[in-house]
Amino acid sequence: MAVIRRSRAAPLLALAVTLFLLFGLEYSVPEPASSSSHQTATQKQHKPKPRLHFTSSSGFNWSAAEQWYPVESLAPLPRGRPVQLPRVQHNFGTHHARNNGAVTEARRLAVKDAFVRSWESYKRFAWLEDELTPVTAAAKNPFGGWAATMVDALDTLWMMGLKDEFYAAAQAAVDIDFSKTEESGVNLFETTIRHLGGLLSAYDLSGEPALLRKAVELGDMLHMAFDTPNRMPGFWLTFENAKNGIQKAGTHDPSAAPTSMSLEFTRLAQLTGDDKYYDAIDRIRAFLESTQEESLLPGMWPSQINFASQSVLNDNTFTIGALADSLYEYLPKMFVLLSGREGSESYEKMYRRSTEIISDRIIFSPMIKRQPTDPSILFAGTVYVHDEAGPHLIAEGQHLSCFAGGMFLLGGKIFGIKEHLKIGEGLARGCGWAYAAFPTGVMPEIFNLIKCAPNDEECEWDEARWKNEGGGNARLPSGFINARDPRYILRPEAIESIFILYRVTGNEELRDVAWDMFEGIMKSTRTEYAYSAIADVTVEGETRKDDSMESFWLAETLKYFYLIFSPPDVISLDDYVLNTEAHPFKRT
Ligand SMILES: *[C@@H]1O[C@H](CO)[C@@H](O)[C@H](O)[C@H]1NC(C)=O
Repeated sequence: MAVIRRSRAAPLLALAVTLFLLFGLEYSVPEPASSSSHQTATQKQHKPKPRLHFTSSSGFNWSAAEQWYPVESLAPLPRGRPVQLPRVQHNFGTHHARNNGAVTEARRLAVKDAFVRSWESYKRFAWLEDELTPVTAAAKNPFGGWAATMVDALDTLWMMGLKDEFYAAAQAAVDIDFSKTEESGVNLFETTIRHLGGLLSAYDLSGEPALLRKAVELGDMLHMAFDTPNRMPGFWLTFENAKNGIQKAGTHDPSAAPTSMSLEFTRLAQLTGDDKYYDAIDRIRAFLESTQEESLLPGMWPSQINFASQSVLNDNTFTIGALADSLYEYLPKMFVLLSGREGSESYEKMYRRSTEIISDRIIFSPMIKRQPTDPSILFAGTVYVHDEAGPHLIAEGQHLSCFAGGMFLLGGKIFGIKEHLKIGEGLARGCGWAYAAFPTGVMPEIFNLIKCAPNDEECEWDEARWKNEGGGNARLPSGFINARDPRYILRPEAIESIFILYRVTGNEELRDVAWDMFEGIMKSTRTEYAYSAIADVTVEGETRKDDSMESFWLAETLKYFYLIFSPPDVISLDDYVLNTEAHPFKRT
């Protein structure tokens, strides 16, 4: 039973009525062609008459390009019998799973309203460009100029029931010519998670064949990046290098970059039956597995990896935040996408082993002022390994590492590890706590706390120690010793984990936590046209806007807020697995 905050419910209900008049009440439980999670790729799931038209292909056909380092044999996509995995979602009961109460419904519509405001301004001022600048109402193109915001937002449009908008945007996505760009190359990771992930999930939800054809076209381009002497891709796919056979893997690349293409390439292999996509990422899996014990912190991989020499020894920094995050996130998610079939054990093994070390070395309890009834909170810090002293944990929190709550919750459910459910809840609640701590209602990008001793969880608050270590500055809430990077750039990871915690536990109070976060974001990021990254979450009153609205605002942040206020069988985690850009792929 939700705790209803009446003071908020009244204006919200008025808003709900207005929105109802504007948009109607329909939300799509995205036509699950069949609720069974066990269909093979060959079974046709989608029968509706296509509404999109594939008019012409991109100007350059990458699947016909010469491969300079062809592979001798392809690792096949696991095609054996799927395993019946444990349920991820709480058993909500049929009525609850399909229906919203009035307060939740009003909140859902408030999120949709924020989405529509942002989307309308994107269409008006930045249509077909990568991003809207939400203060100056102009456009910019950091991702090749292939309409990143639009492609990234397709599945959110679908979920929100904005079907006419969906079909118009999806047609525009199908019409993109990926050979046309001002750039000499693309960021392989970003293009994979945003564009390829966006096209694949739009296909999985709508069943429109043209979207899959477009995904194949883009997939073939991105697949070209693997054409290096050791089949490890570089950070950039540089078109001329690819055409001339002179691509090489990077020597100091973020460990998450080449390792977080596995879900997208696996889904593409499942949908096309073409093993070449799976083979590409399976070589990276094999590399990760063979080096897991070789790093300076055995069990984890460092922030940066030398993919050219395939060494994990040239970096002493270990984190699950920036640079490394989705490497870990994708381990349990790959197991889920492969439905535990023979061939997916390696992902379970790597997940279990890495989370052992993450639990022991990376996760900490912060020293905070707490009431006995407050839930336990945890954060994920950064470890530096020094020759003499060994591993040293810095109690630094990052918005990016907030995804980890969701990872532990998913892994805990799928692999039946109770302890991980507890850790996942602590991490998710830590991020919720940090949002509530700041006057803007939003947590900073990077900050430092004081850690409790490992054997003294929920340690006593020590005011003197806090002040001694840099706390007590008027702008900093209790517990924090700095906000090293005080921005909030509309990131999703905190609400992502709160959303997953809600779906896993069914605890209605989490919807209030989410609503407080949403109100904080609305209050501190709103511009005349949309919502903007802000310079400093520690200020009282008006925030400084940085005129940036990355595509993940529509693809992830607002989607997770929308989903936590939707009936829990909308994008059930038992039917879908979400990529690191919140694009749902159907579990088959
Ligand atoms: C691209 O090349 C492949 C391989 O030669 C071919 O099968 C495919 O039909 C081509 N696609 C287009 C659109 O020309």
